[in-house]
Amino acid sequence: MSDTPARTLVGPTASIPDGQQTTVDLAGVSVVIVNFEGQYYALRNNCTHKDFPLLGGDVSMGRITCEKHGAKFELATGKAKTLPAVKPVKIYRTHVEDGQLYVSEL
Ligand code: FES
Repeated sequence: MSDTPARTLVGPTASIPDGQQTTVDLAGVSVVIVNFEGQYYALRNNCTHKDFPLLGGDVSMGRITCEKHGAKFELATGKAKTLPAVKPVKIYRTHVEDGQLYVSEL
């Protein structure tokens, strides 16, 4: 048994430049990947308010905004920073190897 958690390939880092987002399926769960200022973040692609997808939400100051009602979540921690969301969104680990981006459970 390896200690390395199972990881899922997102794709080449070059395909997700700064400011871009994409999604990947991780064991049946949609995960949104965000490149913010050259760092990759991965969060469950569901707002904790009413389940709206986070993909495509405005990103600034390290936070992604749910387009439905405007809740903001901190990319690094998943914490809800503004109402109407109060619960954190689940976050995942991102990992770059040989120019490929992977995501895995934390
Ligand atoms: S569904 Fe995201 S803020 Fe309401």
